[in-house]
Amino acid sequence: MSNPTHNENTSSIEAVNRCVNKRISTRIAQVPLASFIFNASGPRCTEEDELNLLGASASAAIMTKSCTLEPREGNAEPRYQALPLGSIQSMGLHNLGYKAYLEMLPRLKQAISPQADKPIVVSVSGFSLADNLTMVKAFQASCADLIEVNFSCPNIEGKAQVGYDFEQTERALEQLCQLGSKPIGLKLPPYFDFSHFITMANIIKKFPVSFITCINSVGNTLVIDPETESAIIKPKGGFGGLCGDYIKPIGLANVRAFSQLLPSSIDIIGVGGIKTGTDAFEYLLAGASAVQVATCFEKEGIECFDRIAKELDSIMAAKQYSSIAAAKGKLKMI
Ligand SMILES: Cc1cc2nc3c(=O)[nH]c(=O)nc-3n(C[C@H](O)[C@H](O)[C@H](O)COP(=O)(O)O)c2cc1C
Repeated sequence: MSNPTHNENTSSIEAVNRCVNKRISTRIAQVPLASFIFNASGPRCTEEDELNLLGASASAAIMTKSCTLEPREGNAEPRYQALPLGSIQSMGLHNLGYKAYLEMLPRLKQAISPQADKPIVVSVSGFSLADNLTMVKAFQASCADLIEVNFSCPNIEGKAQVGYDFEQTERALEQLCQLGSKPIGLKLPPYFDFSHFITMANIIKKFPVSFITCINSVGNTLVIDPETESAIIKPKGGFGGLCGDYIKPIGLANVRAFSQLLPSSIDIIGVGGIKTGTDAFEYLLAGASAVQVATCFEKEGIECFDRIAKELDSIMAAKQYSSIAAAKGKLKMI
């Protein structure tokens, strides 16, 4: 579907209109989104036909697979396994290389209905600061709407997650935030200690970071098949990122902690274990301005965005919340 036909454009308008509902429309860094829910970087967003499908769907944005300077095949297979309550994966950043996404962006943009509030978010995941500077500079000059810098890929052998190295994060932000005026956000790993929430929030506050996305998969977990007595994925001795229902309480805690520590001008995108409108609503109460979906999208396919949006809308209507702002961060303490 790299060259959308008239019919596909029509279905795009319909899909978006189904979602254009004041109750669940939102903004990230002042960029309008027709709904609260879009795809997370990862599943089904590497190839141009997959990105076009997202453009024609009820996903509130088109989010790209994290790109690197050069194209990558990714890690050895099996590298993704569905689990009863989620998934484990060690994909290893298989992607087309940033130049392919740069070249594809104008076509993706053109295929999106002009009436739709459907931004394109590019995810950048360089192996060094120099790589990230090259890619962010290029995307700053592109028609992408938002740039998410992935500081949290747990699946590259020998490469630590930048978000767990506070000094490196600060040095990187000093330079990455100077490259242009398009909103930049950070995809963060999960943190498990209040001292880490506070340290990271204090670093982010020093720079014009527009949004953060919490959380990437919980890195370096191990799932064992007792029948075969082996790990269930091949890369990195079986260690991989845990996703899905298992990690929702961790994602919620990270969104909540950062929403209390950061100024409200920095939007927080929640991700981790969202597969129903109820999950999305919980992230909204915790303080998210929008949510992303990875494992559920991988398992269910493109229809998940329309379904989750409708479920969230029904919950909001039943609870008499007329907008995202009315419920955002309204978590009650007992
Ligand atoms: C197959 C797969 C590939 C992923 N690739 C990326 C990636 O390239 N960049 C990234 O920032 N996160 C990546 N993630 C992490 C997701 O964006 C998300 O943070 C995580 O899976 C938690 O969401 P979930 O519980 O909805 O799966 C990937 C996840 C999966 C399942």
